[in-house]
This record gives sequence, structure tokens and C-alpha cells, in this order.
Amino acid sequence: ALPYDLHGVRMLISAGGTREPLDPVRYLGNLSSGKQGYALARVASQRGAQVTVVAGATAEPGDPAGVEIVRIAQATQLAEEMTTRAADADVVIMSAAVADFRPVAVSGSKIKKGAQGPAPIELTTNPDILRSLVQARDNGHIHSSTVIVGFAAETGDETGGVLDHGRAKLRRKGCDLLVVNAVGDGKAFGTEDNTGWLLSSDGSETALPLGSKSLMASRILDEVRTLVSDG
Ligand code: PMT
Repeated sequence: ALPYDLHGVRMLISAGGTREPLDPVRYLGNLSSGKQGYALARVASQRGAQVTVVAGATAEPGDPAGVEIVRIAQATQLAEEMTTRAADADVVIMSAAVADFRPVAVSGSKIKKGAQGPAPIELTTNPDILRSLVQARDNGHIHSSTVIVGFAAETGDETGGVLDHGRAKLRRKGCDLLVVNAVGDGKAFGTEDNTGWLLSSDGSETALPLGSKSLMASRILDEVRTLVSDG
């Protein structure tokens, strides 16, 4: 049986992938299925938390019971929902795969092939939501006790620098916990199982052995639980 140790904890979780529109029928997207974010939501809810999920594109058949779901498509919409809702959360988890860039121009009509061949797509940078949430906490816009958790999707393996990239990302983003996933070669995105490392801003590093995304969620939430009681 799961512990009922997150009773009353208000948790805001982003899940799935963003889709950055090019025209009415095309977008730039990624392979996130939302499985890891939904597993976090499901397990947190079963452990008593009050959960809101802000979901981009997902491949999940049903929504977790007892969880509020807010739908978004693009990174800018995700940014707005997360920023507003973080003020009412004790824990914020950014498991969504967010596009770093979006097309500058969104065509109102379907882009034609054209006689000249493909036109280049000009991109602009999306807001870094995780970093902004940490800054909002630093500036007192959200409560100082809010626990902020990020994910990192890195290609390579342990020797190929996944962990080093993760450590650098933890410092750069300034969140309390960072879940590092090795991706590429069919790993993590869209799979049933996941593996990785849990890096804490206090310097501790825990390997998360391969297991279901629910098991992964439980391990992450165990660590989150210790931080909530600290705050
Ligand atoms: O959804 P699944 O199919 O289950 O797959 C799970 C997963 C692999 C998508 C998930 O475990 C995961 O790793 N999610 C984060 C993927 C990601 O976007 O990583 P990143 O290294 O690009 O971003 C680092 C962190 O910053 C993430 O917490 C991300 O949500 C956040 N971010 C990124 C870009 C941006 N503009 N704003 C952000 O807040």
C-alpha cells in the first residue's frame, strides 16, 4: 500500500509535450507522451496530494482520477498557467518537455509548397519556465517554501556526460531537485519504464534504477516529501 504522506499538499505538475504551431495544421513538437507526468500525478493523488496537471500533448488514454487537468498547447501558454498557478502550490514539478524555440511567424493559412522549394523556418526563444519559477520564488512572487522540481532530458550515457549535463543544469536552473533522464535511442520518451538520477541542490545524488514510471514517481515523491516537511 502507498503511504498517505502527502495529505493536503498542493501539487502543480506539467506533463506531455508542447506543440509550437507553424500553420493551422502543422507544428514543431517532441516525443513526450505525458506518461511520467501523469504517473507523478496519479501517485501523488493516491498519497493524498491535491494535484493539478497542466498538460500539453499526451498519449495517455485517460486522465488520472481526482486530478484537475488544464490543457495547453504551446510553451507560452504553459508558461502562463504555471506562473499563475504556482502561487497556490506547495510543490511544482516541471516534467513537461518544453520546446526551447518556436516559429517567429504562424501562418494563418496552410503553407504551400512553393515553386522555390522549402522556405527556412525562423525561430525565436521560448521562456524558460523552470528558471522563471525559481526566479519568482527568489523575488518573493511565490512563497519561499515552494519546492521546485525539474527534469533533464539528455542524450548520451553516464560516461557520455548525461550526469555532468544534469549537474550543470541543476546549477543553471536553481531548482531543488532535478530528475535526469538519458534519452535518445528509444529511451524515456513514450516508454513504460524509466531510469535516471535524482540530483538535489544539497549535493546528494541518487541513482534511480530501471522501473515503471509509477515506481520512478514514488521515488521522486519520497524525496519531495522530505523537502515539504523542511519548509
Ligand atoms: O512524457 P514521457 O513520454 O513519459 O517522457 C518523459 C520525459 C522524458 C519527457 C520526462 O521524463 C522528461 O525528461 N521531461 C523533461 C524534458 C525536457 O524538456 O528536458 P530539458 O532538458 O529540455 O528541460 C529541462 C527542464 O526545464 C525541464 O524540467 C523542462 O520542463 C524545463 N523547461 C525546458 C525548456 C523551457 N523553455 N522551459 C522549461 O521550463
